[in-house]
Amino acid sequence: MALHLILFGPPGAGKGTQAEQLARQRGIPKISTGDILREAVQGGTPIGQRAKAIMSQGRLVSDEVMIGIIRERIDQSDASNGFVLDGFPRTVIQASALDEMMVGRDPLVIIEIAVPEAELLRRLSMRMVCDKCGHTAGANAASGPGGTCEVCGGKLVQRSDDHDNVIRERLNVYHVQTQPLLEFYQARPTFRSVNGSQSPERVSADLTAAIDSVGSGMTRGARR
Ligand code: AP5
Repeated sequence: MALHLILFGPPGAGKGTQAEQLARQRGIPKISTGDILREAVQGGTPIGQRAKAIMSQGRLVSDEVMIGIIRERIDQSDASNGFVLDGFPRTVIQASALDEMMVGRDPLVIIEIAVPEAELLRRLSMRMVCDKCGHTAGANAASGPGGTCEVCGGKLVQRSDDHDNVIRERLNVYHVQTQPLLEFYQARPTFRSVNGSQSPERVSADLTAAIDSVGSGMTRGARR
């Protein structure tokens, strides 16, 4: 069965960190809408030009644009055996569109990574990313601004939307526009929640256990 995973949670919950590792372990692509948009901004494409100001204010890019990006991306051949979605869907409209795209495919597995707000603020204000390849320095990385990227040797900087006022707006947007999705997904038998306030290694172990429990639940259901 193909794994079609949504990692769901607020900014700073660790979606990107866990998605990268899971995708590597399972040999499926990590599809991060934030990364796709940042690449578009850097490349100066028409979508990037429109998204730049919206992202720097912490608001959401339009549903229409985001749905178009995902529709095209999950149809690519590397996603035929599954994918990990990081940052999509973020609104009920996006989630409904994704359900339509999934007709005829194995079901979505939705895992919430739950983290209290004070910890989110701490993580985002300390996060360092590479200005060349975009890699996020690990949770245990000692390097501050001016440090060096462990992947490509580029310079570590603060992400442009990780400044205090933008972080607060992103959290506010999450509560108003994205959190209602919990209600949309919570009743599904393929929904799980994990405690994201633990070490990255513990979160990863809990995620694997959650995915396995969905898989075994579906196998039992299929046998009945
Ligand atoms: P996006 O890039 O998706 O940002 P986000 O959702 O705000 O999520 P983050 O990347 O900030 O956090 P994360 O959960 O991935 O945490 P991470 O693993 O990095 O989106 C950016 C913007 O693009 C949006 O604001 C919007 O404008 C636009 N956009 C994107 N998708 C969209 C959509 N679908 N619709 C409309 N607009 C869209 O970890 C954070 C930090 O914590 C790191 O430093 C990490 O090392 C550390 N960390 C991770 N795990 C742990 C742990 N267990 N313990 C301690 N530290 C940890």
